[in-house]
Parts: sequence; C-alpha cells; structure tokens
Amino acid sequence: LDIVVLAGGISHERDISLRSGRRVADALTGVGHSVRVLDPDAGLLAGLDARRPDVIWPVLHGASGEDGALLALLEATGIPTVGSRSAAAGLAWSKPTAKELVRRAGYATPRGVALSKETFRDLGAAQVLERLVGSLGTPLVVKPAQGGSAQGVTVVDDASVLPRAMVAAFTYADSALVETKVTGTELAVTVVDTGDGPLALPAVEIAPHGGIYSFEARYNAGETLFYTPARISAQSAARVAETAVAIHTLLGLRHISRIDLIVDADGTPWFLEANVLPGLTETSLVPQSIEASGQSLGEVYSALAHAAVT
Ligand code: DAL
Ligand code: MG
Repeated sequence: LDIVVLAGGISHERDISLRSGRRVADALTGVGHSVRVLDPDAGLLAGLDARRPDVIWPVLHGASGEDGALLALLEATGIPTVGSRSAAAGLAWSKPTAKELVRRAGYATPRGVALSKETFRDLGAAQVLERLVGSLGTPLVVKPAQGGSAQGVTVVDDASVLPRAMVAAFTYADSALVETKVTGTELAVTVVDTGDGPLALPAVEIAPHGGIYSFEARYNAGETLFYTPARISAQSAARVAETAVAIHTLLGLRHISRIDLIVDADGTPWFLEANVLPGLTETSLVPQSIEASGQSLGEVYSALAHAAVT
C-alpha cells in the first residue's frame, strides 16, 4: 500500500509524535509498504489531494490529532484513515467526558471533579482547596482535562499543593480534572481491531522507579519497569481485557486504542483514560503489548492499514 504517516503537528506532544511516526513508518516499510512521513502544515490537504495515498495514518498525539478537528478534515478527503473517527476521538480526548460515559455504562472510574480556569479564579484557591479536599479527600491526582504524556499532571499527597497543581494543569488545558488516587496496579491495555472485532493484547504493568509515570518516566529508557503480561491473576487479566474492550467499544473507538486502568486489591479495574492515538515510540506501551502477543509491529500495523481500506 501507499501510506502517508502524519507525524509532528503543533501540540505539546509534537516531539513524541515525531518519534512514534518514524517508528510506525519503519515498521510498515519493513513489511513492504511505500511510506511517506508528513508533518502537517497549511499545505497538507492540497498535498494529500495531489498524492491520493491508499491510506493515511495520523500518528498525531495531543490536540492536533486527538481532539478530532484534523481527523474531520482528513475524513473530508475521502482517503481511508487508520484510527478512530473524529467524533469519537473528540469525546475520548476529553477525560471528564470519557469518564462520565464509562461511569454511566457501569464501570468504575475514580471520583473526580472538573474545574475551569474561570471557576478557579472566581472561587479563589482557598475555597477550591476546601471544597475539593472536603469532597474528595487526599491523595488526589490533578490533570489537564485534555492532554497526554502526563504533561501538567501532579499527584497531590499534601492538600496545600493542590492550588499549585491546578495551575500546572491549566498550563495545558482550560479545565483541570481532580481525581481521587486509586491504589493498585497500573495497567495499559492495547485494544486492536483489524476487522474481526476488538481484541485486548496482553496488559502492560507499569512500575516507574519514582512511583509516578511522569513524562520523564515515559520517554527515557530504564526509568520505568514494565511487566508484560502484567503480574495479575488470570481471572483479573480476563476481567481487565473484557473491561478495556467494552470501553473501547462504548467510546466508539476504531482500529487501535490504549485503555489505561488501575486494578485495586479487590480486582476491580478503575478506568483512568482512553488514548485515541497512543504512543508508538521505542519506550511506549503499545509496541510492548504487540511484541508480547507474539506478533511483530510490521504485521499488526500492516493489518491495521489493510483494515482501513476494506
Ligand atoms: N499521549 C501519549 C502519546 C500516549 O498516550 O502514549
Ligand atoms: Mg494519555
């Protein structure tokens, strides 16, 4: 196939996207596809119309790829695209929206409150602190309502740090999501659908040396220990896989996603977030899952490209 991989873009995760895109392109080239990597700019649509590739794979992390706007433009070209459609992407990209949909479908997700920058400013830090800590307690996790790669994320053990953590989240989004911190095993589950329905690959267990899966712990080799498959019981692994597939499906995601969860001591999987265009770099989770499933990256990526055209 003639494949255009889009990588880069103008989000906070531009550099990660360039790394993911290169790796996807190498894997696809390795199994015989003709691949060109493009960094989207103002000439993107004209370029695609002129070239008319068989498939586009937007490996664009962050707002540029995951909020759905660019995906809608790509849909308008009529060229088959790997990954979720724009409408579903836009919903999943908003962590509070995804959590609410998942909660209403009956799955566990940490209790949380989304708060806009304006509300934070109007109420003042002291009020916010009192209300949030009053209703949620500590420890808390504060994140930008939209974002990736743990940018702007703070684990708040001491309530006095909460206002500062919220300001850090507002650097990346207009709303912050404040959640209770669930204790348990942190897992990332890759869901792949190459045409026969969504399947969960072996879950990756994440054990960062510093205890927090930060930006640094994600992209510097050796900063995090990974166990694939995760060190959980077969029964727990089955429940996790089932939950991840159900969430991928209820959010309307397509081809590939990564569902992040924490499994507590009772074996309950708590949904954290769905990643529309999960990281595909050399230290990312999805490639580890694929390799643990006994398949090669080239095989799976090629199957996804074919799924897009059929
Ligand atoms: N947002 C990063 C790329 C991830 O989900 O892996
Ligand atoms: Mg994420």
